[in-house]
Amino acid sequence: MGRLYLVPYPMNHTEQGQGLPLILIHGFPHDHTLWEPQLDGLSDVARVIAPDLRGFGNAEEVPETMTMDDYATDIKALLDELGIAKAVVCGLSMGGYVALAFLARYPEATQGLILCNTRAGADTEQAREGRYATARKAIDEGVAGIAESMAPKMLAEATIAKRPEMLNTVRTLIARQSPAAVAAAAQGMAVRLDRTPMLSSISVPVLIITGSADTLIPPSESEAMAAMIPDSGLIVIPDVGHLSNLEDPEAFNGAVRKFLGRVA
Ligand code: MLT
Repeated sequence: MGRLYLVPYPMNHTEQGQGLPLILIHGFPHDHTLWEPQLDGLSDVARVIAPDLRGFGNAEEVPETMTMDDYATDIKALLDELGIAKAVVCGLSMGGYVALAFLARYPEATQGLILCNTRAGADTEQAREGRYATARKAIDEGVAGIAESMAPKMLAEATIAKRPEMLNTVRTLIARQSPAAVAAAAQGMAVRLDRTPMLSSISVPVLIITGSADTLIPPSESEAMAAMIPDSGLIVIPDVGHLSNLEDPEAFNGAVRKFLGRVA
C-alpha cells in the first residue's frame, strides 16, 4: 500500500546571493555540491538556493521510494520555510523530472523553468527494470560500484581529456551518497509520470540547456521539449556531456544569466 502522505522534512540547503530566487535541483545520484559553479557564478544576479534532495548529502532518513512529486513537495516546503512565494526552478536530469513535477503541482510558485540535460517522457519497461536493478545493487553492494560505472558516462570525452580530475570529482560525489537514497530515487524515477502532455500548455518562460555530447539523455530529447513548449529557448553547449553546468560553467551560467534577466 502506498503512503498517504509524506512526513514534512527540513531540507538541507546552501544559498548565496539576493534577489530573484533561483532553486537548483541536482540530478541522480548527486547532492547540492553539483551546483558549486552556479552558487559562485550566479549569486550576483539571483538568490541561488541549492538543496539536497531527501536522503542525499548528509541526510539521514529516506522512505523506500521517493517519487518526483515527493521531492517537489519537499522543495515547496523549503520555499515556504524561506518565505519565498515564487522561484525560477532549475533542474538537471532527475532534477528536471522534479522541476516538471513542481510546475505541475505548484504553477503559482513557478516564475520560470530551466530544464537541463533532461527529458519529459517516462521510463520504458526496460529502463524501469534497470532502475530496480540499480536500487537492489545500491542496497546489496553499496554505491561504490555504481559510482565507478556511472561517472565516466556523465562526462563528455572532451571534458575528461581537458579536465581529467573532474572524473574523480564526480565519482567521489556519487560514491558518498547513501545506498537508501540512491535506491529510493531510482525507484521513484521508475514510476514517474510522462510529462509530455503538459508541455504545450506551459505558460511560464522556459530555458532548455543540454550538451551536444550527452549520451545519457541525448540532445534530441531537449529539442523535442523545445518544439512543444511555447515560450522556450534551447541552448546546446558544444562538446559537453550530461553535467553541462559542471563541464562548461561559463556557457551554462551565461545562458542562465540571460534568461534570468528576461524572467525578472
Ligand atoms: C540523472 O543524471 O539524474 C540521471 O541520469 C537521470 C536518469 O537516470 O534518468
